[in-house]
Amino acid sequence: MQGESSGHDWWHIYRVWQTSLYIAARENVDSDVVQLAALLHDIGDWKFHEGDESVGPRLAREWLESLGVAENIITHVCTIIANLSFKGADVKAAPLSPEGQVVQDADRLDAIGAIGIARAFAYGGSKGREMHDPEAQPVMHASFEQYKASRGTTINHFHEKLVLLKDRMNTSTARALAEQRHAFMLDFLDQFNAEWNINGS
Ligand code: ADP
Ligand code: NI
Repeated sequence: MQGESSGHDWWHIYRVWQTSLYIAARENVDSDVVQLAALLHDIGDWKFHEGDESVGPRLAREWLESLGVAENIITHVCTIIANLSFKGADVKAAPLSPEGQVVQDADRLDAIGAIGIARAFAYGGSKGREMHDPEAQPVMHASFEQYKASRGTTINHFHEKLVLLKDRMNTSTARALAEQRHAFMLDFLDQFNAEWNINGS
């Protein structure tokens, strides 16, 4: 992940790890499981493996087995990794253990606010997505397959995912952090629209 340019680089992992630690210190969870899941959560991400969701949990398992980690911890960490990712606005999320909920919150916090804005455009550019098309409407994806196949603009990604995350945080610690990041993102979208519609919309 070192040097990756679409917002899924080592520093994203580092931030999710640190944010996971921040949340874990305020919630009743096993911090070892939280840290392992945070550090391995984007390994073999389906977004970079032709939509194949099985690569990540498999690579994580191989890595943890090579280190001699106990089987119950490996199973727990790999289950978290398999169920962490956002699957579409109208897709029911998979159930997560309290440890998984902490890492999912940390991952989602890194997708909103100033860093979230930067990551969205970095990702969009890396996938050859248009920045904005005022004629394209956001799509509330009803299945993971539909979400994975989406080629929408980056501004629409804010409406299809990023502005929805605040109300989907699992822990109260993350909900509090999300408020300000969410508000900043809405300000950004207002400013973007104001500049776009210089003669009024
Ligand atoms: P998840 O596991 O929920 O997909 P990741 O940590 O892998 O989360 O990163 C997802 C981030 O990648 C998004 O929050 C966003 O910044 C970026 N991203 C994903 N899909 C798109 C898209 N279609 N357009 C713009 N950015 C995207
Ligand atoms: Ni991530």
